[in-house]
Amino acid sequence: MVDLLLPEHLQLSDASADEILRLVQITDCHLGQYSGECLVGMDTDSSLDHVLTLIKKEQPMANLLLATGDLANHGSAEAYLRLKNKLAPLGMANAWLAGNHDGRVLMADTVGNELLPRTVRIGRWLIVMMDSAVPGQVGGELGEQELAYLEQALSAHADAEYVIGCLHHQPIPIGCDWLDEQRLADSDQLLSILSREPRLRAVLWGHVHQAFSGQDARLPGVQLLSAPSTCVQFAPNSEGFKLDQTAPGYRWLNLHPDGRLETAVSRLDGIDLTVDYASQGYK
Ligand SMILES: [Fe+2]
Repeated sequence: MVDLLLPEHLQLSDASADEILRLVQITDCHLGQYSGECLVGMDTDSSLDHVLTLIKKEQPMANLLLATGDLANHGSAEAYLRLKNKLAPLGMANAWLAGNHDGRVLMADTVGNELLPRTVRIGRWLIVMMDSAVPGQVGGELGEQELAYLEQALSAHADAEYVIGCLHHQPIPIGCDWLDEQRLADSDQLLSILSREPRLRAVLWGHVHQAFSGQDARLPGVQLLSAPSTCVQFAPNSEGFKLDQTAPGYRWLNLHPDGRLETAVSRLDGIDLTVDYASQGYK
């Protein structure tokens, strides 16, 4: 069955099933077409470079880097190529997915399908990469085809012991009204499928430009997590668009052979990055 998913499957065979597996998640890099372009006053190439330097220092043994969408600000090939070149020196396998600022086809055409696997097997774990981006729309939706793909992936990988789901849009409200209007439109259908999956340990997403960690009664014991953007941050618990003064960062995750998942966020410290806090939004 697994072969049916190739070539969009990534098998990390160098990872032992009995060791702690180390993942990092970066998200919402919003790279411009050209290096040096800014988003609400922040040079997004520069902030990403600082975050990658931090990852290199703190996570030298990481096996896999997850990039959960809005990797380019306007879906440009130049941005995806620069990102690929920036990530290569880390020496980690990559799994990217598209956000509402991206184009999955352009991403794959530019950097190769191998950087956008739909499923990843690492040790005892299965990671399912879901596409919640809807062309021309800010909000997210998986749709029937993607939900069916999720069920197919879960059954095709029946021999995996633990599961993580990744997508760009938040499947549950995070407490910011303006962002929660954009959350996954068919989240009830997603959570219904996931509620029947006892192997599920976590769901990860981007989009919200802030760290979030929560639970949902429909998924008991499952960690529901977002990561900070590698550039500008949005203020938690805000009704409307509001920037936050926290620094860019990333999330790390340690996957244990017994199914435990340790995770936290790490941010830049002591690095001066310009932000236009008076900004009322961006496109
Ligand atoms: Fe974003």
